[in-house]
Amino acid sequence: MLIENGTIWTDTDGAVLHAHGGHMLQVGDTWYWYGEDRRDNLYVSCYASKDLVHWTFRNHVLRTDSPAEACRVRADLRLTREDGGKVNIERPKVLYNEKTGKYVMWMHYENGKDYLCAAAAVATCETPDGDFVYHGSFNPYGEMSRDCTLFQDEDKAYFLSASRDNADMHMYRLQEDWLNIEKLSANFWQGEYREAPALVKKDGQYYIFSSFCTGWAPNQCKYARTTCLEDGFGLLTKVGDETTYHSQPAFILTVEGSETTSYIYVGDRWDGQDYFNSRYVWFPLEFAADGSVRIISCERFDLDVQTGRCTIL
Ligand code: DGJ
Repeated sequence: MLIENGTIWTDTDGAVLHAHGGHMLQVGDTWYWYGEDRRDNLYVSCYASKDLVHWTFRNHVLRTDSPAEACRVRADLRLTREDGGKVNIERPKVLYNEKTGKYVMWMHYENGKDYLCAAAAVATCETPDGDFVYHGSFNPYGEMSRDCTLFQDEDKAYFLSASRDNADMHMYRLQEDWLNIEKLSANFWQGEYREAPALVKKDGQYYIFSSFCTGWAPNQCKYARTTCLEDGFGLLTKVGDETTYHSQPAFILTVEGSETTSYIYVGDRWDGQDYFNSRYVWFPLEFAADGSVRIISCERFDLDVQTGRCTIL
């Protein structure tokens, strides 16, 4: 199946696919792609696919009129501003918690006027593509929390977000039901201003990719690795070119097939002038025997979810 980078992607109805700053969750043989949808009263949309190429629109899973319900944490439950306008929901990520049977979404929340809330927000649902119930936004331990990601490691889950006005990266271990933070496991990259964190685990090593902070303009991606996740990450190494082939990390997709496992960098190619003209790029990752990584920039490649093979065309 052909992945064609940098073009406008459409769903199986021919409508433009809105899943920016997103994340994917595999449930059986189906992948769910969640991402920002800034149209009308929408915040997060969800698409489903069995081959990672044909995406069927499933639901606008978070909207201004989504049901809101407090859940343990004292949080701001508003999904609209006082004047009725929209707030900002960015980088939604979803995991499935087996213990509670709930799909749990974490995201970055701003008030729609400025970027000073710097809050994390949580929503849950009984199904992957149902109407998520919003549980509000808050600042973890009072800290700022902007660009974020979720990462599952066995039965534990972690929420990572840029803190202290983006200067540092925080990694929080979540409580068992993943609805609140258990502890600040690590803070790292002190003063290095990294955004757009994206994690993957391969052969017992954890890799994290991130960008520098330049608004919507692309910059140099860097990665770091560790064998002990809760220790956090150390020195950053450049990967890709100085604009990461005109993209910013969204998440790393793992495709486990019958022959091999492929790891794919999924990035946003933002259009800073016209957000709705933003595109997606998918680039296979190549890991060397010494654990170093390369992003293989390409215009198109063939992805076979059965075998797990990526073939650059
Ligand atoms: C870069 C971030 O990575 C995006 O998610 C978004 O917050 C833009 N900055 C806004 O300028």
